[in-house]
Amino acid sequence: MRMYELIEKKKQGLELTGDEIREMITRYTAGDIPDYQMSSLMMAVYFRGMSDRETFDLTDAMVHSGDTVDLSMFGDRSVDKHSTGGVGDKTTLIVAPIVAACGGIVAKMSGRGLGHTGGTVDKLESFPGFCTSLSPEQFTAQVQRCGLAVIGQRADLAPADKKLYALRDVTATVESIPLIASSIMSKKLAAGTRSIVLDVKCGSGAFMQTPAAAKKLAETMVKIGTAHGRRTAAVISNMDIPLGHAIGNALEVREAIEVLKNGGPDDLREICLTLASLMVELSCKLPAEKAKVRTKEALESGKAFAKFREWIGEQGGNAAYADDPSLFGKAKYVADVLAEQDGTILACDADQIGLAAMVLGAGRQTKDSVIDPNAGVLLLKKPADTVKKGDVIAQLHTERPETLAAAGAQILNALVFTQQSVEPQPLIYEIIG
Ligand code: URA
Repeated sequence: MRMYELIEKKKQGLELTGDEIREMITRYTAGDIPDYQMSSLMMAVYFRGMSDRETFDLTDAMVHSGDTVDLSMFGDRSVDKHSTGGVGDKTTLIVAPIVAACGGIVAKMSGRGLGHTGGTVDKLESFPGFCTSLSPEQFTAQVQRCGLAVIGQRADLAPADKKLYALRDVTATVESIPLIASSIMSKKLAAGTRSIVLDVKCGSGAFMQTPAAAKKLAETMVKIGTAHGRRTAAVISNMDIPLGHAIGNALEVREAIEVLKNGGPDDLREICLTLASLMVELSCKLPAEKAKVRTKEALESGKAFAKFREWIGEQGGNAAYADDPSLFGKAKYVADVLAEQDGTILACDADQIGLAAMVLGAGRQTKDSVIDPNAGVLLLKKPADTVKKGDVIAQLHTERPETLAAAGAQILNALVFTQQSVEPQPLIYEIIG
């Protein structure tokens, strides 16, 4: 196999064979194909796409580029969830303990955030002492004891994806459906759970900007999971608006705790119950209606919150912070952003709000940036809310006072006002699988 010929073939829009894809991934992982040739191939895929068969073969080759986790001791009950990433997305913190309280087995690996989409691992590390790097044995033992563990992505799982994703990130080839689908699903399949629920975000704060593109990505991932014998479903959800009010690590953890204590914002609660009940339906093999009732009961009875406390404590975190979230630190500088006009909010660019939070210190500009756990934005007004000039629209939290003016201006720029009444946008567009 000559890499030059594969690039030429894909450039002409022809299909690569399974053998060609497997050899290419094996050799790239081993360092035998240079980045410049692989990035050229990625760009050809970006423009020419891949058939379902090629996408399946690419995913499979990436799964087999490293180790896979064996969760067979949990039978069919192991279940994972993945969000394609969005602003204010703290759903794992809520969904995982609800599912575990219902009898599902959540053995999950999560990423760190890059840019404005915060990672679950960063959020969990807001709890002093919380350990996100358990050994494989510690991980399985905790899942056995508690029904739930979340750790950082293991480097020995799907190493081809790690190399490819880093390359795509700097060669403008991230936003390709076959490449995103194979990247996400290779990690999920290698992580070994029997069921997978995907939250595919759609809108200005997401990779997929339209419901049609999000649907295509969701369908591709569900097909890959199903073809690998995993029960797989996807929810397509709105990311034109940040989820909940909090954007930033400790702020998001506090909001997640509010939901687990039966409060919190309605949109966040609704999407969490939708994701959790799909996970319970697949992992506990329950009819959809029964799964819905069971998840709601777990949340309302306090069982999910009790599971959350147990989980934080099991992983070395101080669970007293869950009882009393005022123990989390507070940013030194807190400033209000005031409405400059009367009106109703028509739209809010989630991407801009995420960038404002990043400027304040809540996100990473590069892989090595250090996150400030207490920095971020509390977005108090959202689309369909009516405000008067001078009302507080958002609160900015930071240790860097020099960033406040730019972040405040960015929040105001992100909002579109109207004098008409505004219908709330849908939160969930579709469920697939
Ligand atoms: N998340 C991933 O893991 N991979 C992608 O390609 C995009 C988002």
